[in-house]
Amino acid sequence: MRIDVVSIFPEYLAPLELSLIGKARQDGLLDLKVHDLRDYTTDRHRTVDDTPYGGGAGMVMKPEPWAQALTAVAAGRSGDAGAPDDGGTPESAGPDGAAKPVLIVPSPAGERFTQATAHQLAEEDQLVFACGRYEGIDERVLEWAAEHFTVRPMSLGDYVLNGGEVAVLAMVEAIGRLLPGVVGNPESLVEESHSDGLLEYPVYTKPSSWRDRDVPAVLLSGNHGKIAQWRRHEQYRRTAERRPDLLVEFDAGKLPRADRTAFSDLGYDVVDGRLLRRPDA
Ligand code: ADE
Repeated sequence: MRIDVVSIFPEYLAPLELSLIGKARQDGLLDLKVHDLRDYTTDRHRTVDDTPYGGGAGMVMKPEPWAQALTAVAAGRSGDAGAPDDGGTPESAGPDGAAKPVLIVPSPAGERFTQATAHQLAEEDQLVFACGRYEGIDERVLEWAAEHFTVRPMSLGDYVLNGGEVAVLAMVEAIGRLLPGVVGNPESLVEESHSDGLLEYPVYTKPSSWRDRDVPAVLLSGNHGKIAQWRRHEQYRRTAERRPDLLVEFDAGKLPRADRTAFSDLGYDVVDGRLLRRPDA
């Protein structure tokens, strides 16, 4: 997979050289390049922002540096910093039927980035991340870019960061670890939070007794059926307690009797394959 990140703070993306993602880059599983938006400005001060039309606080990112940067990145000419485009279209993303790269614009006003989004984006050939700062990027950039990219404004959650860089670190890690070969044991991707619409069960390691706290006995029993059931029920308990919103989407149609009982104990009935919280619970 090819990933390009455009930012006015390229140094912010340095952690992408570390750990699993850094190793994936070294191993050639992920071709990731970070670009400085200011390399696509033409004035002496390398200006990327200006005051907002209509007034109000803060500054807005100017459209032309973004168009220059995104055109170069989409055409694979991103090494040509300082040689801006003539206003044409990105060569690799024309209307010739070739798949458009996905342009992800981190923003609290975007659609929610979830594990399902990460899986979907991990299937793409090229992702481009446009890190906005200040009050955001001139809206016309997103309209223009839609001709050449599949544009997806994306939010990590309902809170406001100072810019897109931290969100990109999170999204690239979530997507990158799903690429084939990045995580050593692919089984660890199966039993983790959100892989099945539930939170993960609690985990324990040695010693079996620590500061007067014992590991749940079932985990020492060697009975793999019982262990699997206990872990599932712990997922239900945790999800009901911490993220009941996830249970609205949960497919409870084919649950075994013991699992229905577990949900009943948590105050949920199965109605038409869906979980319904009892009003008295
Ligand atoms: N930029 C600022 N806030 C953000 C958020 N919540 N998610 C993604 N990008 C952002």
